[in-house]
Amino acid sequence: MFGNVFSKGVINKAREKRVVEVHVHDLRDYTKDKHKQVDDRPFGGGEGMVLKPEPIFSAVEAVRKKKKSPVILLSPQGERFDHRLAEQLAEEEQIVLICGRYEGVDERVVQHSITGEISIGDYVLTGGEPAAIVFVDAVSRFVTHVVGKEESVRQDSFSSGMLDFPYYTRPRDFRGLKVPEVLFSGDHAKIEQWRRQKAFEKTARIRPELLMNKKLSQKEKSILKEIHWERKER
Ligand code: ADE
Repeated sequence: MFGNVFSKGVINKAREKRVVEVHVHDLRDYTKDKHKQVDDRPFGGGEGMVLKPEPIFSAVEAVRKKKKSPVILLSPQGERFDHRLAEQLAEEEQIVLICGRYEGVDERVVQHSITGEISIGDYVLTGGEPAAIVFVDAVSRFVTHVVGKEESVRQDSFSSGMLDFPYYTRPRDFRGLKVPEVLFSGDHAKIEQWRRQKAFEKTARIRPELLMNKKLSQKEKSILKEIHWERKER
């Protein structure tokens, strides 16, 4: 399922520079039976299959380099993945990810083999693999030397607690759609202020909950109120 996603783009560059390593392991290699069976029917009955404990315990024991390396199961039951968690986990020397599949994973894995459970959002994927790709990408961005200008990670949306401001590039006039004049003013303070306002407006409109714990200026408070009423009227 991983194909060559980790052999392209920024993650591949990071691997070449040896600042990030990604290793994919097949649970079937940790089975002992002839059929390399990783799943079985649930005790107590019910639909679907459940991942067996043995291959997961064996795989974790084989690949975990240190006793304190986090072992994370990707599943819709986990803690919600976000910017803060990605930044925090980027400090770890090694992270072992387990991709859940089928209906679920034997509870003894959850209770005794992992240190945490993470979900990338409130929807159910067909398996943990796409979530692992998202996880590796987002965490790697916080590893030093992965993203060229470290600044650009720190200034990203969410670092500021807000969504990003809009960007424009050439041409200045595209099919009559013009780039805002302020961006040609050369006045950096004014541009900064404009960007902050645009970021604020977008956040207030789309993700107002991100602004809950932020200190807002009077102007921002009034914009927020206006947008709130606009939304109510719709
Ligand atoms: N596996 C299935 N759905 C998932 C989700 N939302 N997040 C992480 N792993 C998953």
